[in-house]
Amino acid sequence: MTSPRRSHWDDVYTTKPADTVSWFQDDPTPSLDMIAQTGLSTDDPIVDIGGGASVLIDRLLDRGHSAVTVLDIADAGLAVARKRLGERAALVSWIAQDVTAWQPPKDAFSIWHDRAVFHFLVEEADRVAYVRALDRGVSVGGYVILAPFALSGPERCSGLPVRRYSADMLQAELGPAYHLIDQQVQTHVTPTGNHQNFIWCLFRKTPTSAAAEP
Ligand SMILES: C[S@@+](CC[C@H](N)C(=O)[O-])C[C@H]1O[C@@H](n2cnc3c(N)ncnc32)[C@H](O)[C@@H]1O
Repeated sequence: MTSPRRSHWDDVYTTKPADTVSWFQDDPTPSLDMIAQTGLSTDDPIVDIGGGASVLIDRLLDRGHSAVTVLDIADAGLAVARKRLGERAALVSWIAQDVTAWQPPKDAFSIWHDRAVFHFLVEEADRVAYVRALDRGVSVGGYVILAPFALSGPERCSGLPVRRYSADMLQAELGPAYHLIDQQVQTHVTPTGNHQNFIWCLFRKTPTSAAAEP
């Protein structure tokens, strides 16, 4: 059965050109810089959570990343990216799934990347489910990049309410097993010229969390 959440996002991607939505960016430099900051190789597995139609996947393939997964609740968003990539789409693992209901393979990813997705989880139960999936999927020593709206960011996105964050708030969501390495506030300029502040945080999963897992 299609959930209201999935319908919302499928509708967005079927009714609006991907380069007109507020979160569109043709240059995902903040993501690429933080991924480079991990120092991991292009063979290390990376998952883009809620990647939708983002061009981040194009740029990762351009740079030679060879183990890339894009997950999104909206297959319509993934379809936009697949069409744009053409034959290169076959190099990517595509997962149409609500991240809060996802059970990723254990320790499957060295980098978990999320731009503008976690902030939609306004219910605590959804955030707990998200972190459960994240903690299962990210290997010890792996990295987590979270980029929701900052405390100075907008109160809504795509017509939906969001929860805005500081680095401390994100740290509290992830728990002590995740060590904050870097944080930056970045201003995104939307296609209509509005300014939106994001908080970019890079965390590393420490061995402590593996010990705590059942
Ligand atoms: C604001 S857009 C950001 C898209 C992309 N990350 C970017 O930076 O361009 C939010 C994305 O998250 C996806 N999304 C929203 N809730 C989700 C959920 N619970 N599970 C998986 N994807 C979700 C939407 O379909 C959409 O593609």
